[in-house]
Amino acid sequence: MLCFRATQFSLLTLLLLLVSFIPFSFSSREDAEGNNGVVLSWGRTERLLADIMVLAPKRTYRKDPLNDFKMYEGGLNISNRHYLASVANTAAPFFVIAAIWFIVFGLSLTLIYICSCCRRKEPYGYSRIAYALSLIFLILFTIAAAIGCAVLFTGQARFRSSTLNTLDYIVHQADNTSENLRSVSDYLSAAKNINVAQVLLPDELQTDIDNIRGTLDSTARTLSSKTRDNSERIKNIIESVRLALFIVAAAMLVLALLGFVLSFFGMQFLVNLLLFIGWILVTATFILGGVFLLLHNVTGDTCVAMYQWTQHPTEHTALDDILPCVDKASAQESLNKSKEVTLQIVNQINTVISNVSNINFAPNFVPLYYNQSGPLVPSLCNPYYPDLTDRICAPGEVDLGNATEVWSGYVCQVSPQGICVTTGRLNPTMYGQMTAAINVSYGLGRFGPFFVDLADCTFVRQTFSDIDAKYCPGLQRYSERIYVGLVIVAIAVMFSLVLWLIYGRERRHRIHTKEHAPRGVEGFEGDKKN
Ligand SMILES: *[C@@H]1O[C@H](CO)[C@@H](O)[C@H](O)[C@H]1NC(C)=O
Ligand SMILES: *[C@@H]1O[C@H](CO)[C@@H](O)[C@H](O)[C@H]1NC(C)=O
Ligand SMILES: *[C@@H]1O[C@H](CO)[C@@H](O)[C@H](O)[C@H]1NC(C)=O
Ligand SMILES: *[C@@H]1O[C@H](CO)[C@@H](O)[C@H](O)[C@H]1NC(C)=O
Ligand SMILES: *[C@@H]1O[C@H](CO)[C@@H](O)[C@H](O)[C@H]1NC(C)=O
Ligand SMILES: *[C@@H]1O[C@H](CO)[C@@H](O)[C@H](O)[C@H]1NC(C)=O
Ligand SMILES: *[C@@H]1O[C@H](CO)[C@@H](O)[C@H](O)[C@H]1NC(C)=O
Repeated sequence: MLCFRATQFSLLTLLLLLVSFIPFSFSSREDAEGNNGVVLSWGRTERLLADIMVLAPKRTYRKDPLNDFKMYEGGLNISNRHYLASVANTAAPFFVIAAIWFIVFGLSLTLIYICSCCRRKEPYGYSRIAYALSLIFLILFTIAAAIGCAVLFTGQARFRSSTLNTLDYIVHQADNTSENLRSVSDYLSAAKNINVAQVLLPDELQTDIDNIRGTLDSTARTLSSKTRDNSERIKNIIESVRLALFIVAAAMLVLALLGFVLSFFGMQFLVNLLLFIGWILVTATFILGGVFLLLHNVTGDTCVAMYQWTQHPTEHTALDDILPCVDKASAQESLNKSKEVTLQIVNQINTVISNVSNINFAPNFVPLYYNQSGPLVPSLCNPYYPDLTDRICAPGEVDLGNATEVWSGYVCQVSPQGICVTTGRLNPTMYGQMTAAINVSYGLGRFGPFFVDLADCTFVRQTFSDIDAKYCPGLQRYSERIYVGLVIVAIAVMFSLVLWLIYGRERRHRIHTKEHAPRGVEGFEGDKKN
């Protein structure tokens, strides 16, 4: 008879002990944020790792199980097993609780079944207070389980949409970049075919263009294919996690409600079945809660790291592993080449204008003479000096942006021999070649800022600060909500399971007492042999 009571008592004590573990795991997390020792170690860490900037050092200052539980000081570094171990360690209490619960409740269930089998005559003692208390607590914990499930349901839906939005934003940024790279490559390809009055771009520039295009195309391809692959993979994971959470929440809700109803009506066999299922589910929920705490911590670390990186974008950091800044030299070289192409094209056009269009040749200079006449064609404004620095247009020069429009006023009509029959200094063929060349220069010019962004990492910085400002709060809040929901559900169902046992027993005793004892004996405390 002691058997049952002792098991119940030890179970309850154990549960309380377990639950007291949980706030401890939170507070150790808080400590890591504002610990005074952190500030000291920050300077030391910096010196240790010389030129590598440590990201989120305060947040990631955690005990490292792989290093005798000394504090980890390397900052966010996904490829460092000490970092992973120290984050995983934050979720350790959940895994420990899951293991203890699994073993102890499993043993208790076995013990209780053995007790109830080997013992013909159960001891019958009935206490009205114990009965009422167990019922009240059972109701409370069932309600708590339902609330936990509600938190979980809303949390998982929001978490899913905020992760998907973040992912879409990153994919969009990558697509935008590779789209721009492709456009530049297309313009450069068009530049190779430019031919104004039989003048082509110099041979060496053509070779350079081929090389640059190779780099641009392969970068664009890698960037978009890698992002797409990764994003598909992450989306699959997100959907699986969501499904798992959904199933857990639904199963726990059904379990808690069904268990409550069944134990209220005393259907002991079914309750026993549910006890077994609940035993497994609670273990799984604790593990899942640990995984989400881990995820929540890594997300938080990454967000802090991104923010810090945007403040010091030039340093070499561990974030380079996640989103490598585009190779600076290539970006600078592409920019230089695109400037050089523009410079050459404009020079070429201006040479044709000053040496051919604007000169009144005698009719015997046949290729150059086409009866050009009328006002002089304004020359094109070159946006760069020969050393590729920016140049301001001289008065009377036309801008690349509207040269096409301005020059259209200088085009003559030609005879079948290609001779102007009306006033004008550009024949339609020349005009067509020039506008095509301008289109290329102008197009390339528009990508100047894009390359500058790539080269000084403004692009990545912008992406990171957008993520930090727009997406991090949601990711943080909802991953937290999920693990809080999981913990509430797990604890509530854990207590419910034990209360089913206790309540079931009290209920049987109450019924038995009512059947076998005269009225008025209720409330009699202690074991009473039948
Ligand atoms: C790419 O991003 C830039 C700035 O972030 C924006 O101005 C541009 O319109 C975007 N391009 C495309 C094709 O979305
Ligand atoms: C990250 O960890 C790896 C493995 O320990 C190490 O080689 C690398 O230098 C670390 N990177 C940073 C930026 O700390
Ligand atoms: C690009 O041009 C700038 C000057 O405009 C020069 O300082 C730099 O070295 C050039 N970079 C490359 C990779 O050619
Ligand atoms: C254009 O004229 C200038 C001076 O008259 C001369 O130096 C240059 O070589 C000419 N260019 C072409 C392409 O004929
Ligand atoms: C186009 O040319 C006109 C003068 O012809 C000038 O006033 C205007 O600013 C130019 N537009 C652009 C976009 O450069
Ligand atoms: C040359 O152009 C003028 C108009 O500017 C025209 O009157 C004349 O007939 C043209 N000469 C020839 C040979 O086509
Ligand atoms: C300029 O080039 C782009 C891309 O090559 C092309 O789509 C567009 O039609 C061109 N515009 C003109 C005016 O030639």
